[in-house]
Amino acid sequence: MKLSVLQFNPIHKNVQKNYELIENYLLSLKDSIVVLPELATTGYLFESREEIIDLAEEVPNGHFTKLLENIAKKNNLVIVSGVAERDGEKVFNSSLLVSKSGFIGKYRKINLFYKEKNVFEEGEKLEVFDVNFMDQSLRIGVMICFDWFFPEISRKLKLMGAQIIAHPSNLVLPYCPKAMPIRALENKLYTITANRIGMEKNQNETLKFIGQSVICSPKAEYLLKLNENDEGIFSIETDIIINENITKYNNLSQDLKKLYEKEQLRSNFKR
Ligand code: ACM
Repeated sequence: MKLSVLQFNPIHKNVQKNYELIENYLLSLKDSIVVLPELATTGYLFESREEIIDLAEEVPNGHFTKLLENIAKKNNLVIVSGVAERDGEKVFNSSLLVSKSGFIGKYRKINLFYKEKNVFEEGEKLEVFDVNFMDQSLRIGVMICFDWFFPEISRKLKLMGAQIIAHPSNLVLPYCPKAMPIRALENKLYTITANRIGMEKNQNETLKFIGQSVICSPKAEYLLKLNENDEGIFSIETDIIINENITKYNNLSQDLKKLYEKEQLRSNFKR
């Protein structure tokens, strides 16, 4: 199975140009699951909802979903991308998932980071999607950037059956690429973190994005680890094999079940 990331530098507030960039990159890729960064069509740094609302679009009825559906169909791709999603007067920091069969679903970011709290509504629901790809049935969970900081998010995706976590990101702090092998190990799944590169300036603030997109295995390996300036599509080949055994005596799902059954802990874990 080919797993890929698109690491690139979206142009701030230039949605048309970002459509073109994304289309050109993706048309060079075939037969792959590919993850794009968070907010790939708009860029990241906004001060208010008013500043982004006219750049945001409906999902799945907006242009970006259609564009990705067409590319997925043409090149046999499963695509997960960040997008600013407009729903009436609300804007969500969302990710959408399409395959050659069309739109599969979307996830709205739950853990908003920094000034995103002034811009977006919070999502409320985690999603794991059934995807048929290359004669395999896969369950793909989605989280967005800062969601990684909360181990509950990837654990819950695991409990919902995720085998792969697709993770569109716009990282500015240095920690996530170090943590993702552990998220993959402790949940026995594959993670694909696609981060952006470059700088963005808005009013008095400049942010630098750290690149370093990573694909991690359930054995805590980096199957891919990019540098902070790498730009383009990067792919690896791997079988998606989930072995839940940690030792002869420990199986992750069975041990988790027992853990959650313990009376004292049950009240602490809302499942
Ligand atoms: C982030 O959540 N964009 C850091």
